[in-house]
Amino acid sequence: MSDAAVRAQALERLAEHLRGCTRCPLHEGRTTVVVGDGDPDADLMFVGEAPGANEDRSGVPFVGQAGKLLDGLLEGIGLSRGQVFIANVLKCRPPGNRDPRPEEIDACRGYLEEQVALVRPAVVCTLGNFATKLLSGRPDGISTVHGRPQPAEFGGAGVTLYPVFHPAAALYTRAMLGTLQEDFARLPGLIATANRSAPRTPSAGPPAEQMGLF
Ligand code: URA
Repeated sequence: MSDAAVRAQALERLAEHLRGCTRCPLHEGRTTVVVGDGDPDADLMFVGEAPGANEDRSGVPFVGQAGKLLDGLLEGIGLSRGQVFIANVLKCRPPGNRDPRPEEIDACRGYLEEQVALVRPAVVCTLGNFATKLLSGRPDGISTVHGRPQPAEFGGAGVTLYPVFHPAAALYTRAMLGTLQEDFARLPGLIATANRSAPRTPSAGPPAEQMGLF
């Protein structure tokens, strides 16, 4: 079996485990666990904040209004959803779409670390403040750091981190769409450069068993 197939299988095992997760109280109110979606061998991974009502119902990330905007931004750079991997910081919907709480982020972070280690993307594009702060390990807000690539290590995987505004921000502030389009326009070049400077190696990071997930 190819290395990519082995990693895809491990991702599916992780998804099965996640569907039964009771690590934080959010499991009590969820309809489905929104694990993640897309190419398990993608060069580009997006990380959003948490599922909303539409995602909670469907089990698929970014299918509501913000998701349609994300689809449009992807199309603008010649990519489709099937060519990237999309995940969230939290896999279950916070009630009323409130902000994720620190203890929920702590409970869920190992799952995202495992997803990054298994997909092994060259570039992780964080959407908005929560994902950016978690993956950078720094307090700098998205207004300061958007559109600026930075090297990062998350879950034992070295990636190029590329923060952009959350697409939902453009639903409320239309001028934000231009900024998002400009930041997205740099993604294809960034992926090409990141792949050239750090070719993917066959090591998929620590197995989930070692990370205490199962
Ligand atoms: N917003 C997010 O951050 N993630 C989703 O999956 C949907 C909306």
